[in-house]
Order: sequence, then C-alpha cells, then structure tokens
Amino acid sequence: MTIKTTSKITLKKTMATKTRCGIFVILVAIGGTMLAFSAPAESGAEDAATKATPVAVEDDMHEFMEYMFEPPYKRLKAGLAKAPEDRSAWKGIKSDSLILAEAANLLLHRHPTDDATAWSKHAMAVRKQGGELYQAAKKRDFELSQNQFAALLKNCNQCHDQFAGGEHQLAP
Ligand code: HEC
Repeated sequence: MTIKTTSKITLKKTMATKTRCGIFVILVAIGGTMLAFSAPAESGAEDAATKATPVAVEDDMHEFMEYMFEPPYKRLKAGLAKAPEDRSAWKGIKSDSLILAEAANLLLHRHPTDDATAWSKHAMAVRKQGGELYQAAKKRDFELSQNQFAALLKNCNQCHDQFAGGEHQLAP
C-alpha cells in the first residue's frame, strides 16, 4: 500500500514536471522564433533609419528657391496684407510659415563649400524667425504676425545679400 501510494505520487510528480518542462520548451521555442524573426529585421531597419540623411530632390538652388520658398512667401504676402478673416485664412498663414521654417532646415545640407558657416547661420535665422511667425499665427495675432513676417524677410534678404549678389530683396 505504502509503496503504491508513493509510486502514484511519484508518477503524478513526474507528469507535473513533464508538463512544466513541456510548457517551458514551448515558451523558449516561441521566444526564440520571435527573436529570430523580429530582432534582426528590426535592428536592421533601425540602423538604416538612423543612418539615413536628407538627400536633395532638387539640387539647383535657383529652382529650390523658386518652387520651395517663393510660393509660400507670395501667399504670406497676400494673406497678411490685411487681417485674415476666418479660421481657414489663418490656417493658410500657419501652414506657409511652417513650410518656410522647415524648408530652412533643408538649406542646411545645401551649403556651398565656401562660407558654409555663414550660410548655415542665415538658414538657422530663417528657421527661427519662421517658427516665430508660425507661433504668432497660431495665436491669430495679426499685428504680431505682420511684424514677424517683416523680420523673417530681413533674414531671407541677408542671405540673398551674401549669396545671391544682393538680388531678390523681398518686401512684405
Ligand atoms: C541660406 C541662404 C538663403 C536663405 C536663408 C534664403 N535664400 Fe532665397 N535664395 C538664395 C540664393 C543663393 C538664391 C539665388 C539662387 C539663384 O538664382 O542661383 C535665392 C533666390 C531666391 C528667390 C528667387 C528665385 C527665382 O526664381 O529667381 C526667392 C523668391 C527666394 N530666394 C526666396 C526666399 C525666401 C522667401 C526666403 C526666406 C523665407 C529665402 N529665400 C531664404 C539663398 C537663400
């Protein structure tokens, strides 16, 4: 009797251990499979993403200014000639000021070989001033937006003074 009971208990224990072992093996297998499939792919994509740098789609500065900077500038000039009337008019001001501020970021990797530092300073000034116009437009403050727009154009013109032979002097 005693032996039987013991053996039954042993059998139960063995089964329980086996089941636990089985679950463990399955978990390890699932974990391993997940690692094998996801980890290399993810870290590969992450590597590629962190190493990616902006590449110019249009590397001609004349074309870049004409199609990236001139249209939002012209829309802002018209849009801020008088107080924007409604939400959608302000939306246009916000959008164009953000476009110019962010476009200034794209000037940073387009610097000429000479005077690269001065070029970047002008670009950063436009980015900062464009950002301030964007904030003024977000507040729908017309007077402040007009002032920030004039200040922005001063920064555009300073780069044109130095790098475009003084041409393209823009006015609000
Ligand atoms: C970092 C320098 C730099 C900054 C900052 C800059 N520009 Fe320019 N821009 C140039 C250069 C260089 C040219 C002349 C390109 C050419 O014709 O070769 C130019 C030309 C232009 C032209 C004339 C394009 C044409 O079709 O003739 C316009 C318009 C213009 N920029 C708008 C702007 C506006 C608006 C800003 C500010 C929001 C700005 N730029 C800021 C460098 C700059």
